[in-house]
Amino acid sequence: MRERNELLSNDTNEQTITNKILVGKVALVTGGSRGLGVAIAYALANEGANVAVSYVSSADKANTLVRDIEKEKKLGVHAAAFQVDQGDPSQAEGLIQSVLARFGQLDILVNNAAVGYRGKTIDSPEIDNAAMDRQWAVNVTGVVANIRAAPALLLISTAVTPPKPAP
Ligand SMILES: NC(=O)c1ccc[n+]([C@@H]2O[C@H](COP(=O)([O-])OP(=O)(O)OC[C@H]3O[C@@H](n4cnc5c(N)ncnc54)[C@H](OP(=O)(O)O)[C@@H]3O)[C@@H](O)[C@H]2O)c1
Repeated sequence: MRERNELLSNDTNEQTITNKILVGKVALVTGGSRGLGVAIAYALANEGANVAVSYVSSADKANTLVRDIEKEKKLGVHAAAFQVDQGDPSQAEGLIQSVLARFGQLDILVNNAAVGYRGKTIDSPEIDNAAMDRQWAVNVTGVVANIRAAPALLLISTAVTPPKPAP
């Protein structure tokens, strides 16, 4: 995988602010502290979106991402990280409200956070039911809770309009 700072667009000729399609938008990427969430967060920032990320335990990694995006002044965007346990659906509302308090709007929700526990599979007599329950809570119930907490905000957001091709 590319180094984190390589994911930020440094080439001023590559993309000007006028042809970025997400300028003025706010995106929330759940699980933006590591893995694919980091790449998604940088990609959204490179397109001009302000980016919020959630994490459950990797505060340092999430804060590094925020620092990297904020210090890339050419991007002209802001970032913020929020700690939440997606396995507890009652926390979804607080996450969305935190994003709203910080950025005033939410236009894009990327439900990326998930866990995949290795070990006893579903057909094993030694199945770890607690782990299975936790996986379901994070990967299913938590995702649904995020979607349920966000729709009013997403619906009032304006559509993303791709830039017109140059004549
Ligand atoms: N990697 C693959 O090959 C692959 C393939 C197919 C699909 N996917 C999907 O792509 C997504 C990202 O995968 P990945 O491999 O990049 O995952 P990853 O590296 O394991 O990262 C998971 C992210 O989710 C966060 N997270 C985990 N549990 C959480 C919880 N309870 N509350 C809030 N955040 C939580 C983690 O935060 P912390 O850092 O704080 O733990 C981390 O930011 C997942 O939906 C996965 O199913 C991945």
